[in-house]
Amino acid sequence: MNIAREKLIAPSILAADILNLQRDVAAVVSAGAEILHIDVMDGGFVHAITFGDNVVRALRKSVDIMLDVHLMIENPQEHIEAFASAGADVITVQYEAVADFDKMVAISKEIRGFGAKAGISINPQTTVDEIAGLVEFFDLVLIMTVVAGFGGQKYIDACTAKISEVVKLAKDVPHELAIQVDGGIYAENIHIPLNAGANIFVAGSAVFGANDIGRAFAELEERVK
Ligand code: DX5
Ligand code: ZN
Repeated sequence: MNIAREKLIAPSILAADILNLQRDVAAVVSAGAEILHIDVMDGGFVHAITFGDNVVRALRKSVDIMLDVHLMIENPQEHIEAFASAGADVITVQYEAVADFDKMVAISKEIRGFGAKAGISINPQTTVDEIAGLVEFFDLVLIMTVVAGFGGQKYIDACTAKISEVVKLAKDVPHELAIQVDGGIYAENIHIPLNAGANIFVAGSAVFGANDIGRAFAELEERVK
């Protein structure tokens, strides 16, 4: 599957019922989900602590769809191998956790070396200009549309312009670039990042917070396909 070209809804298990994770994940898979977003938080880069590579390993055994790991952690370079060998298909790193050109290039090389797609994510306060020189080394750019750290926040409208800036940057990248948004995405507002040029939409509360998870997923997908 070409993650740069397809319009994809990526349900975030951060909002799933953790005691019934297999049930909730099965609901989105049977509704047609092709990618699952795993928000990894370490209590250092962000206050919350969520999942480790153990959860990715368990999910790998249980589903065939793409596992999209979002590392909101300090020293991500120390954890690439663990998540890659656990079965991550996409590994995305927060630029602010590294903030060094050469280290970010090395992280991308390591992720790709394991056969996974490399993603770079920027928080709302980080400008696209700050990562402009790095985009060509990555397969995916994640524009955070909330401040990384917890689910259920409101979409930050000011982030929409950043999507269009990345679309422009992507024109000079010699390979296709996936543009992902994450945070505060619902059926009512998904058209905003879609029209700005995003193609992967992370949704936690809108999917797993719904009474009918499958239907909520399908509703979002209808709006982007
Ligand atoms: C923030 C997380 C959230 C989550 C999605 O660190 O990355 O954005 O995945 O949250 P919702 O869809 O519940 O706003
Ligand atoms: Zn995320």
